[in-house]
Amino acid sequence: MADLVFPSGFLWGAATSAHQVEGGNVESDWWEWERKPGGPVREPSGNATEHYSRYPQDLALLASLGLNTYRFSIEWARVEPAEGTFDPGALAHYRDVVERTRSLGLTPMVTLNHFTLPRWVAAQGGWLWRRTPELFERYTRRVVQEMGDLVPWYCTINEPTTVATGGYMGGWGFPPGVVDVGQWRRAIDALVEGHKRCLAAIKEIRPETRAGLAAFSVEMWSNAGARPAMEFSRRWNEDVFLEAAANDDFIGVQTYTRQQLHRPRAMAPVIRAALAARPLERVVVPWVMGMKDGAGAIAAPAGSRVTQMGWEYRPESVAAVVRRIAAIYPDKDLVVTEHGVATANDAERVEFIARGLAALHESIEDGIRLRGYVHWSLMDNFEWATGYGANFGLIGVDRATQERTVRPSGHFLGEIARTGRLRTDAIPTSASAR
Ligand code: BGC
Repeated sequence: MADLVFPSGFLWGAATSAHQVEGGNVESDWWEWERKPGGPVREPSGNATEHYSRYPQDLALLASLGLNTYRFSIEWARVEPAEGTFDPGALAHYRDVVERTRSLGLTPMVTLNHFTLPRWVAAQGGWLWRRTPELFERYTRRVVQEMGDLVPWYCTINEPTTVATGGYMGGWGFPPGVVDVGQWRRAIDALVEGHKRCLAAIKEIRPETRAGLAAFSVEMWSNAGARPAMEFSRRWNEDVFLEAAANDDFIGVQTYTRQQLHRPRAMAPVIRAALAARPLERVVVPWVMGMKDGAGAIAAPAGSRVTQMGWEYRPESVAAVVRRIAAIYPDKDLVVTEHGVATANDAERVEFIARGLAALHESIEDGIRLRGYVHWSLMDNFEWATGYGANFGLIGVDRATQERTVRPSGHFLGEIARTGRLRTDAIPTSASAR
């Protein structure tokens, strides 16, 4: 079989987010959240991988692999550590990251918000504070002006779903860690507004830039009994944000796994009726969204091949999601802005990349407008409530010495990026790979 050839100009990248790699993010809400007595976070982020000072080395490594794109986030809490006070040093820092990225021949893709908020915003209620969307817009304007014409791709908000469902519906151990349907819906509305304001501000200041949401998504499967639960979580975890992305230049697709829901057949009408009954909503919605194999946590069914996160190992899910979003928006560009696997065995990552890319290649052949593939993550990092237990990196980091080691998967993806080709003999089939 011939090699799989990807389009020229395809973005081949790796991603990080500020809080997960920079270290010392003391003005952010997560810094406090990590220290909450009895809280869900396994260990504090501390100095992380010291990317805030080591970025020149990290960028050089990324470029040396052969990748052509770096996706990273700018930290609102650093840029605006107190309301209305913008830190020129932080802005200059991020401008330097962008300049250096470009000087290495890499395309910068900048995320304006990757989960964390400044502490002063969180103290007022985070996304539930009525001023937050407007203040997020003001911060966006400041950053975009500072970056000038150096950033061709912006992601507005990274996975608003994770912030809303994680924070207000009991999933993933995110702040503020409440389970409350009313607050959850308000957070969703605010995140939608924040995204729209951010997009409009970017386009007003730099119309030539491409801007879009980085959307959480899973491949979903349910039996008949669980169908109403699946439809509900799809509506509120995914479709509400995909609808908000109608005017985006592109949609960032971030898919790690498949979520399977199984319920006895007789439960379908009960769940459907309960979800529609307002008085029951407070009990039923958290149950549907937060139950172990529900949307709040995406644990795999017993017996599945799983990753360190307990998620089903299913590299092809990303292509299933790309096809679903392309069916909704056939004329919109899509970029895989995250796809990756937590594993201590790097051969599993090589396999994940190969199988994921083979499935994505098929969707490109079918005419889907996929413009790039950005792997999560450039390096091992702080995996939120899980702490440092998960290995997502193309590059391993020894946190005692901060030494970086490129893994074979980094070279593997780099070679695909350099040649624009995936050798078919490098693609294990799901059966032969186990
Ligand atoms: C997030 C990353 C996270 C990754 C793996 C995505 O939800 O954007 O911050 O590390 O998934 O869990």
